[in-house]
Amino acid sequence: MNYCVVGLQWGDEGKGKIVDILAENSDIVVRYNGGANAGHTVVVADSRFALHILPSGSVRPNTICVIANGVLIDPEVLIKGIETLAEKNIILKDRLFISENAHVVLDYHKKEDKLREESLGKNKIGTTIRGIGPCCADKVGRSYAVRMADLKNLEKLKAKLNTIVEYKNKIFAALYNAEPIAADRLFEKCKNYSDKLMPFTVDTTKFLHKSISDGKSILFEGAQGSLLDLDHGTFPFVTSSNSSSLGMPAGCGVPAKTVDKFLGVAKVYTTRVGAGPFPTEQDNEIGQYIRDRGNEYGTTTGRPRRCGWFDAVAVSYAITIGAIDCAALLHLDTLTGLKELKLCKAYRINGKETTFFTANADKLSQASAVYETVPGWDEDITHVSDFNDLPLNAQDFVCRVEEMIGKPVTMIGVGPERKQTIFR
Ligand code: GDP
Ligand code: IMO
Ligand code: MG
Repeated sequence: MNYCVVGLQWGDEGKGKIVDILAENSDIVVRYNGGANAGHTVVVADSRFALHILPSGSVRPNTICVIANGVLIDPEVLIKGIETLAEKNIILKDRLFISENAHVVLDYHKKEDKLREESLGKNKIGTTIRGIGPCCADKVGRSYAVRMADLKNLEKLKAKLNTIVEYKNKIFAALYNAEPIAADRLFEKCKNYSDKLMPFTVDTTKFLHKSISDGKSILFEGAQGSLLDLDHGTFPFVTSSNSSSLGMPAGCGVPAKTVDKFLGVAKVYTTRVGAGPFPTEQDNEIGQYIRDRGNEYGTTTGRPRRCGWFDAVAVSYAITIGAIDCAALLHLDTLTGLKELKLCKAYRINGKETTFFTANADKLSQASAVYETVPGWDEDITHVSDFNDLPLNAQDFVCRVEEMIGKPVTMIGVGPERKQTIFR
């Protein structure tokens, strides 16, 4: 069975946990989009791993890991990720394959991301400042892009970096009155990246197609969430890649029909980091309750996440555009203790009710949520492993969500650990 796991909201749905679980029965786990803006958490007993570029399958010692062409590689973050796992005796040698076509995020991308966000003031996107937007702009622009394969030919890279850095420094000075960066220092860093990462760098498209014909089972891991998709999300408050399942084939060179099941991950409430419309946001004591209990602080940036009620309109949209087959619903435990719970079943925009999401950020910012209210539960559910052992109100809540989104909920999270998962 080949699965593709994608977020159905604005990211941080718990994809890392689900991928880690499904990786047990997969030969290969593939990351195909995003970069160090992602933070995927895997909790195994006492160990907590925050993965940014490495696939979440990497914590399992025998799983083959692929970082495909669609991933934006910040070599510093990737090397640190490999070393952090090595400190815990998790070795990636001979089981990590990095695409030679993946684009490289370098210092000037992060600098540009930061300067641009600062200059935008209250109009900023609220990016993770990981250089994602500028790196994607260079990818699309082509002339000033650096790919992993470029780290193989250092002489050529040196000349290329001189040209790029000269161009970037002109922009830094003219637009932001900012200090230049030094091409020779960046080149020295790149030599180190080359030493450490070239042994892992291959043609991953070829590798994946060979693996498919050898009958290997593959798990595709999406980063971010469908509503942050560059083309189909709440533009401009999105990331720079196709983070719905639509990004999977382009991000790894494998057709979508290779996937047997697209599994969407959602929390039983909604969170968002950074700016942008959020119809069910609870900027009040309910939001704070969810933030505290769910530990809703960014895995990558530590920023407090904006929290609100479950939005079935938004999740249904993500399911529709992404051809999602089934869903995992996480953080059911986080809602414990609330007397009443709300589920958004429609939006009211300009006096009209609609159940179809709009990715137009201006329109969405005018949407008010139409809620259905259901009763909560007080019992501790963090040790429940059978759906029928959940309090009846919790069972009804999940069944109601299932009805609203129109897809089966096959996994339910009742805590961050692998074993705190109910299968249906
Ligand atoms: P990702 O980016 O989609 O992988 O999600 P993050 O790792 O950024 O955020 C999800 C957070 O929720 C992490 O801290 C997980 O450990 C945690 N988590 C995942 N599932 C559950 C759950 O069912 N209950 C609770 N309480 N925490 C969970
Ligand atoms: P995972 O994979 C949540 C958000 C940022 C910002 C917008 C653009 O952990 O779910 P970027 O740095 O990509 O240019 O920022 O996208 N964002 C995420 N939010 N989880 C993520 O990844 C995110 N990756 C980017 O907060 O609003
Ligand atoms: Mg995350």
